[in-house]
Amino acid sequence: MQDIPSKNAIHFQNVSLVFEHGVRLFSGLNLTIESGGFYFLTGVSGAGKSTLLKMIYLGCKQSSGTISLFDTNTARISFRDIAFLRRKIGIVFQDFRLIPHLTVLDNVALPLQVRGVSPRKAQAEAAELLNWVGLKDHLKSLPHTLSGGEQQRVAISRAVIGRPKLLVADEPTGNVDDETALKLLYLFEEMHKQGTTVILATHNRNLAQELKYPEIFLEKGQAFLLEPEPTLIKEGILV
Ligand SMILES: Nc1ncnc2c1ncn2[C@@H]1O[C@H](COP(=O)(O)OP(=O)(O)OP(=O)(O)O)[C@@H](O)[C@H]1O
Ligand SMILES: [Mg+2]
Repeated sequence: MQDIPSKNAIHFQNVSLVFEHGVRLFSGLNLTIESGGFYFLTGVSGAGKSTLLKMIYLGCKQSSGTISLFDTNTARISFRDIAFLRRKIGIVFQDFRLIPHLTVLDNVALPLQVRGVSPRKAQAEAAELLNWVGLKDHLKSLPHTLSGGEQQRVAISRAVIGRPKLLVADEPTGNVDDETALKLLYLFEEMHKQGTTVILATHNRNLAQELKYPEIFLEKGQAFLLEPEPTLIKEGILV
């Protein structure tokens, strides 16, 4: 599978999702995520944020409609190419999903090692990132010994360390204090500035308004793209 630049990172066309027990979550969902963009994904608890992200990282298949990832129709992707596409995606799961028997350092170093980086270099990079997120005293700890907010920062470090093409983060600041949440928000913005497409799910619409990026608002099985409010700056220029 060739790695050619794509205009759209993600495109949903008329996508519906009906669960096995017959309950419909999405119907006729249309959505375009441009390559290199930063998007907040909002909606009340149960609106479908985690499930939408799951469809994006190919963890759940739509019932009908078309989903394209990096301009490739996901229904036509071979098993081998799914692995290829997944390696381009960094995922922060809402429930972290750290590997329980690996230390914090090894959890974060793993994505680099999978890509062939030497263990020594991978661990050095992981240690630097963990230091930045305030976890330098926990490098050798096992995940279950950390608090929820600490585990969340490990999960974020693991998702961003490989500088993925697409970062999907599910409530990545749900367990940390406001100051840490802002710091992490700026980490995601930095990733975006370096070219990563970022989708950040949160039920906290105030957080989504901290940065001026579009918001995808989920309601009643539909997605609404809300552009950020313009900010009035000096000299009367709107930005
Ligand atoms: N595999 C499944 N089978 C049946 N129903 C499911 C399944 N996965 C999700 N749902 C339902 O879909 C709805 C949306 O769930 P989802 O976890 O995507 O919401 P969310 O917006 O992420 O909520 P929260 O803010 O609480 O994390 C919920 O009502 C949930 O019960
Ligand atoms: Mg969720």
